[in-house]
Formats: sequence, C-alpha cells, structure tokens
Amino acid sequence: MKTRITELFGIQHPIIQGGMHYVGFAELAAAVSNAGGLGIITGLTQRTPELLANEIKRCRAMTDKPFGVNLTFLPTVASPDYPGYIRAIIDGGIKAVETAGNNPQKWLPALHEAGIKVIHKCTSVRHSLKAQSIGCDAVSVDGFECGGHPGEDDVPNFILLPRAADELKIPFVASGGMADGRSLVAALALGAEGMNMGTRFIATQEAPVHDAVKQAIVAASELDTRLVMRPLRNTERVLNNAAVERLLAKERELGAQLKFEDIIDEVAGVYPKIMLEGAMDAGAWSCGMVAGLIHDVPTVKQLIDRIMAEAEATIGQRLRGFAAG
Ligand SMILES: Cc1cc2nc3c(=O)[nH]c(=O)nc-3n(C[C@H](O)[C@H](O)[C@H](O)COP(=O)(O)O)c2cc1C
Repeated sequence: MKTRITELFGIQHPIIQGGMHYVGFAELAAAVSNAGGLGIITGLTQRTPELLANEIKRCRAMTDKPFGVNLTFLPTVASPDYPGYIRAIIDGGIKAVETAGNNPQKWLPALHEAGIKVIHKCTSVRHSLKAQSIGCDAVSVDGFECGGHPGEDDVPNFILLPRAADELKIPFVASGGMADGRSLVAALALGAEGMNMGTRFIATQEAPVHDAVKQAIVAASELDTRLVMRPLRNTERVLNNAAVERLLAKERELGAQLKFEDIIDEVAGVYPKIMLEGAMDAGAWSCGMVAGLIHDVPTVKQLIDRIMAEAEATIGQRLRGFAAG
C-alpha cells in the first residue's frame, strides 16, 4: 500500500509503532521495521544519550530497514539532556523522529539538516496546525481513545480525524484505538494516510515486556481503562488496577487541592517494575481502550500481515461490494 506516509518514511506498510516507555526497545522496533512498518525506539527509556546511541546500534544490528526514535518533551523542571539525545539520534543515522509533548520547534533545524523527517504527536487540530506551521513533516493524531496522554479536549477519532483532514496539508496518521485491518481502512477513509499503534504492539511475541503485561491486555475489555491525573491537567489513560483505584480515591478526596506529590507512589518510577518484572499492581501504566479488540499475542509479522490482508480484503471486497450495489 502506498500513501504519503509510506513515501515519507520509506516503508512498505502505512503502520507506525508509537514510542512507549519501557516497551519501545530495539527488539520491538526492529521487529516492526522488519515486518514493513516503522518501528520506534523510545528515547527517554534510555537513561542517557550514550545508552540511546547503544540502543540504536543494537536495533541496526537487527534490521536493515528504516526505524525511528521517539523523543518526548516533558513539562518537567529538571529537563533530560535533550541536546545529547538529539546528537545521539543524528550520529546514529536515524531518519525518522517521533516527537511528543511540548513544542519541538527548537530542535527542528538540527533534525532537518541531518535529513530527518519529524512526525509530531498531537491530540487536537489546534496543535496539529501548530506542528504544520513550525515545519513538522507529518502529524500523529491521537484521539481520546488512546493509551497514554490523550490531552484535555476529549475528542474521539471519529471526529478528530476528519477535522484534521479538513485543516491539514501535511500527511497524518490516525493514532488511538487502532488494532486491525478495519482500523486501517477506517483511518484511511477518515483522511489519515496510515495508522500508529501503541497498545496493540505490546501484545506481540517480540515486545520485550513481561508476559503478565501481554496477558493483562488480552484479558482486558474496552471498559477497563481509567483516566488519571485529570486534576493536574496531565491526563493519562491507564489500565485499571489496585494502584489506579488508590490514585483515583486520592483524586476524589483531595479534589482541586491534589498535587503531584500526593500520587507519586502510584505514578513515579513504576514502569520498570511493571514492564520488566510483571508487578501488575505496582502503579498506573498507559493502556488504550483498544485492549477490548486485542485477543491474542501474535508475532509482529503475523500481526502486520494480518492487518494488511484484512485491509486489502475490506477495500477490495466489502467496500467495493457496497459501491457496486
Ligand atoms: C505503555 C505505553 C507507554 C507509552 N509511552 C509513551 C511515551 O513514552 N511517549 C509517547 O510519545 N507516547 C507514549 N505512548 C503513546 C503511544 O505512543 C501511542 O500514541 C498510543 O499508545 C496510541 O494509542 P493506542 O494505545 O490506542 O494504540 C505510550 C503508550 C503506551 C500504551
């Protein structure tokens, strides 16, 4: 399948694996790229730029296809060494960067000079237009369904994607709630030129996380996610568990008085415990409503081949059948 997204990133299928903290290691990124999509290493999961440089090398040893790096610009005071991470990305010969969080404008000249294409993750049309105006090459439009940070506007993809299509000139992928060939065809119909998946890629053989995480996603339904940190305007969609129940109880109790320090036990530093050790109640971890559509743990190649076969059959048979009728 050929779209502006496959052309931009030099990939076979219009499928991107979004950056995911403590999930987006070289093994997953390489598997996605080897299967014809765009795999993404999560930059900040590597604690230093040197470790990121090493992770890029590891990934390159596992694939000769293009892969990218996610750089999330956090709203924190103690900022990570972003110049160092940017240097590691450029020196590592990376050609695709997924930015997220704060405005990436400051870093675009260096990235573009190195021939890197930048796709910025946005949860609103407003932010997507801003990304376009500062020179981003593409946008990943994240609807309210998404795992992770859906923003504060709560607009689901059935509205957000066609709104983005009406306004944007640069290509965009649909992100949030994407799981299968039906998702891809719907995303294309609504104006996107591909899709980005997070949660679906965790439940794959190659995702280097504890099996308990994959089984929790398979067991979950579309009713099992919760929104946390809304009072802090840092909303995150997570899978419900004991820690999330505790966190939500504190939010109810403290109301507008809630501070980050009040919930630090439930959210800070919990990812290694959950993703690597399988301590499923250790804290709040991002997960999309799309868990309700995930029933198996295939290899990445089986998943992507199945998505493409289903998408092509849906377009060629189901939709063509309706059009002919
Ligand atoms: C466990 C997990 C961790 C994530 N970590 C990040 C991150 O560090 N940076 C980022 O930009 N997005 C992160 N995301 C968001 C994903 O890249 C993607 O946008 C989102 O999962 C799409 O929604 P879906 O889960 O419905 O596919 C994370 C998502 C999950 C599920």
